[in-house]
Amino acid sequence: MQELITQYFSEIDRFTAVNADELEQFRIKYLSKKGLIPSLFDEFKNVAPELRREMGQALNELKNKAQDKINLLREQLEANTTEVKSGIDLSLPVDFSQAGSRHPLSIVRNEIVQIFSRIGFIVAEGPEIEDDWHNFSALNFQPDHPARDMQDTFFIGKDPEIVLRTHTSSVQIRAMEQRKPPLREIYPGRVFRNEAISARAHCIFHQVEGLYVDHDVSFADLKQTLYYFAHEMFGEGTQVRFRPSYFPFTEPSAEMDVSCFVCGGKGCPICKYSGWVEILGCGMVDPSVLENCGINSEEYTGFAFGMGIERITILKYRIQDIRLFFENDVRFLKQFSGVV
Ligand code: PHE
Repeated sequence: MQELITQYFSEIDRFTAVNADELEQFRIKYLSKKGLIPSLFDEFKNVAPELRREMGQALNELKNKAQDKINLLREQLEANTTEVKSGIDLSLPVDFSQAGSRHPLSIVRNEIVQIFSRIGFIVAEGPEIEDDWHNFSALNFQPDHPARDMQDTFFIGKDPEIVLRTHTSSVQIRAMEQRKPPLREIYPGRVFRNEAISARAHCIFHQVEGLYVDHDVSFADLKQTLYYFAHEMFGEGTQVRFRPSYFPFTEPSAEMDVSCFVCGGKGCPICKYSGWVEILGCGMVDPSVLENCGINSEEYTGFAFGMGIERITILKYRIQDIRLFFENDVRFLKQFSGVV
């Protein structure tokens, strides 16, 4: 009997269970009515009286040992099941989830916004679906004015005419109708033109519009502001030049070029060997546009400008095809993951 007790003792000691079933088998084997330990108790009556005390003690210890082992394993198994149930194993190594990257157009838009916010321009937005008044009429596009042909428009309603805005200049009108000068604001947003899609043109693109209206705003202010912008955006050594242009809502109007920041003005494929790249349209807000928005043009003057975000991004990152911006190909997008 002593031998059996020692044998069971070490068997119990070594036993482990991976599930509740195995544990139950263990309990049945050692502790059920006909189990090994109760059978030993049955045989106890045959033990010689002088050995009973010692044997009795050993038997009780064995029984307690088995019971303790069962309790311990049951607790462990339960703890494991809760872990699996909650789906969290705190002991696993950290799984770094892959961070995405900012879209190149967002990177450049944010940069433009930051540059202008440093000199006090606030950001506002307007709707992408516009009426004729805000997109055209209030900006001096007469009904049959050839200027309307400058922009191929997506019409989405007739009488009244509703369009997908062809430029962010519509937001100038909304701003001047809603708020009164001094106004010093920029308007980033998406615009739409009915153009054949190619590597160089798309029917969707983005602009940032700027508007500054106050007492005594002059063309010198316009030049100084855009000169500051060009330096911040393209670097200290950047030159600017203004070429006369035409927009129905500004007078005088100009287009601004910056010296090519790729070749420094010497001539390269980016600037088509001219040394200059065109960056934006601008001009003094036409007095009749101010009047259209209820602003006294005798009292106030202003300047406005508008630039294409795609164009600047293409130049800055030497992107070959404008369609890449809208395809969401991760092989393209992840190249910008280092830029914030
Ligand atoms: N809205 C013009 C365009 O889309 C750009 C512009 C804005 C020109 C403001 C002058 C002043 O081409």
